[in-house]
Amino acid sequence: MANESNTTAPTLSLASILTLVDDVNGWMSPDQAAVLHRAAIDCPSSGTIVEIGSFQGRSTIVLALSAADDTHIVAIDPHAGNDRGPQELDGFADQAADDHAVFLANLSKAGVSDRIRYVRAFSDEALCEVTTPIDLLYIDGAHRYGPAQRDIRQWGDRVVDGGTLLIHDSFSSVGVTAAIARHLTLGRRFRYVGRARSLAIFRADLATSPSARLKNAVHVVAQVPWFVRNLGLKVLLTCGLVTVLSRRGRAVPEWPY
Ligand SMILES: C[S@@+](CC[C@H](N)C(=O)[O-])C[C@H]1O[C@@H](n2cnc3c(N)ncnc32)[C@H](O)[C@@H]1O
Repeated sequence: MANESNTTAPTLSLASILTLVDDVNGWMSPDQAAVLHRAAIDCPSSGTIVEIGSFQGRSTIVLALSAADDTHIVAIDPHAGNDRGPQELDGFADQAADDHAVFLANLSKAGVSDRIRYVRAFSDEALCEVTTPIDLLYIDGAHRYGPAQRDIRQWGDRVVDGGTLLIHDSFSSVGVTAAIARHLTLGRRFRYVGRARSLAIFRADLATSPSARLKNAVHVVAQVPWFVRNLGLKVLLTCGLVTVLSRRGRAVPEWPY
């Protein structure tokens, strides 16, 4: 299925889509949007895209506007106020209702409400909601090790041969990176293709030979220096680098994502 070409791809350009999501909150840079856009276009006819972690709809809208009309798109998010974004792991119950409402409003404004099947649930409780094999899986939900590794394992198992797995906050978040180290470094299925900042691209076409697996591990491990740089930057930003640089009128580096 993953190799059939898509004949009903939509006509909206990436630039137009980026304009449409410009005012939608979220952590998806334009180069990461380009990866989602390409992956959604490449999704085979009548294929299935699953997104774990939609927040207010930024990436959901990119996927919906990029995929062909016959692609099934499932967006899973509990909108429960946990793991909203960087440094927002717990205690955001008050924002949960808003995130949910804003998500629905943003989809409606972009004209894609009918294109998405929204499952308001934690990803491990939503497994029974998707019964078809998955052509494109985008993981951007809970970033702690436990849920991140469960998403890769439980949902990743459902990706078709030749299908695509995209993981946000790879080599940036400790939990996500540990989950990748555990399951995708010496794993038997997914090949590391590359990344747009922290959005890592894996394809389910890894040859099972020891040399192919070793080569894949080398490519994944080669991202470690970038991971160390991101961790260092996060520590500095948390320790007040922002204040110091702002006082000196210097540019403040972005939180890495
Ligand atoms: C970083 S945000 C996603 C950002 C979104 N992809 C975008 O482009 O703006 C993480 C989202 O994951 C959701 N989330 C947290 N735990 C989850 C879980 N176990 N399963 C699915 N989603 C989860 C949160 O509610 C939050 O909306």
